[in-house]
Amino acid sequence: MEKNKIRLGVNIDHIATIRTNRNTDYPSLIEAVNIAEQNGADLITVHLREDRRHIQDQDLFDIRPIVKTLNLEMALTNEMIDICMAAKPDYCCIVPEKREELTTEGGLDIIGMGSNQFNLLSNSIEKFQNNKIKVSLFIDPDISQIDYAIKSGATCIELHTGSYANAMNSDIENKELNRIKVAAQFASESKLQVHAGHGLNLSNLSDICKIPQIEELNIGHAIIADSIFKGFKQAVNDFRSAIDNG
Ligand code: PXP
Repeated sequence: MEKNKIRLGVNIDHIATIRTNRNTDYPSLIEAVNIAEQNGADLITVHLREDRRHIQDQDLFDIRPIVKTLNLEMALTNEMIDICMAAKPDYCCIVPEKREELTTEGGLDIIGMGSNQFNLLSNSIEKFQNNKIKVSLFIDPDISQIDYAIKSGATCIELHTGSYANAMNSDIENKELNRIKVAAQFASESKLQVHAGHGLNLSNLSDICKIPQIEELNIGHAIIADSIFKGFKQAVNDFRSAIDNG
């Protein structure tokens, strides 16, 4: 399979974390969007969490007019569905969410979600897609979850790379990498578009970039962490180069 250029989604949540924690109006998300786009971001990703710990509702409407491609990550709740319909991002990535978690811990459990939630998922996918909002489902690299993603009507998944990124030794890392490869191949053969993300950094990115079915990576924490010492512009540039040279 020929390798596509992988799109880079720069997640700017943690720029908002710095602002929201101190209730200031800086650092500016508009500036962040502009710098990210000028330095290799193909899309801007934000996660509006139920507890609003970083991105706020108003941020979506402030950045929407200037963002070239906006990807909104959100939990599957009626509140978020209404916000998404109002903000009209280009993409919506549906993620599981627990209030007490530090970050999104696992993928969406489509198999175990129960029929009410599954119906809400299918109906939301249809509603969003009818409104030109492309939906992806953030799931673990697990064939049975992919099967259920297909049943829900999804046309795109984002594979959770957290277990690979957090692997404690090279055996686990190889096993997790292999799970991602198998899942990406199965999903692509099933006509799904394949994205990936979580916990990726300049040290662990290269093997993920070699997986031919992966079309998009969403990366946040490591880009913002690298920015502390080298600046946001350079950090986005370095991830862009790492992905392109993958
Ligand atoms: N993709 C999804 C669906 C996420 O929820 C997150 C974290 O918000 C990311 C990617 C980015 O993860 P990280 O911040 O670890 O790069």
